[in-house]
Amino acid sequence: MNKNKISSLNIDWAKMWQDGILNAWSHQYIKKYGSITEAWNHKAREYEKTMEHSNRAQLVEKFEQHKPETVLDVGAGTGIFTLPLAKRAKRVVAVEPSVGMLDRLRNRADSYGLTNIECINKKWEDTTIDELMEINNGKYDLVICSHALYYITDLHNSFKKMNDICKGYVYLLIGTDANKDKNYEKYYERIYKKPMPLYPDYACLYMVLRELDIHPNIEMLDAYAKRYVKSVEEVIELWKDNIDGEMSEDQRDAIREYLAESDLIKKEDGRLYWEWRSKDALIYWKVEK
Ligand SMILES: C[S@@+](CC[C@H](N)C(=O)[O-])C[C@H]1O[C@@H](n2cnc3c(N)ncnc32)[C@H](O)[C@@H]1O
Repeated sequence: MNKNKISSLNIDWAKMWQDGILNAWSHQYIKKYGSITEAWNHKAREYEKTMEHSNRAQLVEKFEQHKPETVLDVGAGTGIFTLPLAKRAKRVVAVEPSVGMLDRLRNRADSYGLTNIECINKKWEDTTIDELMEINNGKYDLVICSHALYYITDLHNSFKKMNDICKGYVYLLIGTDANKDKNYEKYYERIYKKPMPLYPDYACLYMVLRELDIHPNIEMLDAYAKRYVKSVEEVIELWKDNIDGEMSEDQRDAIREYLAESDLIKKEDGRLYWEWRSKDALIYWKVEK
């Protein structure tokens, strides 16, 4: 069986992903804010603002082709998928450990008059199949986990729970370092005062799924987001969130030079914006009955 063949390689794909992502990404937030949940409480407002002008929400069309009546959104954040899906579905359950992110999701749900969203204020690892089933009276047509696998641990059990609670499709969306900006590598050490860590490959996630005998599809997507700003100095201020301690003049200069060299600050109708382009991997499968 493939499952045994892959396991017999004796490669710890889950650890490779988790250690890599901790080193490349989450560890800086834990150091600065104490925990990932605290970091997201702090970043909620800024995140919502950035997502207003991203192309991520366009994926809703892909999800809606399955006409899901019941949806589970793992690491729902400010509700980029929960909210539009709740407009058509019977029920959407949002699992989200950060109160700051959930508050924003709930406020927007209220402003749209949506009353079919249930929130579970927990980490995915701490939810049980029983509570997820009870809140929905059964399994879900669609399970989504978008840009939360940087933080979710215990990958085998976490994926198994997504698969076991679903009777339709599971979709995982994750950032990759395909098409990375060479300039960023050049400036990283000056900006962060440490060498640029290696970003783990999303293929690790695929291999963990293969160890569970799941055969997912992978589609590469162009991701795009922009944040309107008043000046380059505002971008530098926003960058502070990712940096340990006070920012020196040299760090500010390095950010300024990087933004200019990579042409990341653009103008549209007289307004300045900061633009990101990257590649995401959409990993998805239909659950076997
Ligand atoms: C980058 S945001 C993504 C939000 C949303 N899914 C989206 O695509 O815009 C990551 C979210 O994952 C949440 N998160 C962090 N650790 C988590 C965990 N262990 N289980 C579930 N969600 C988690 C964070 O609180 C945050 O809201």
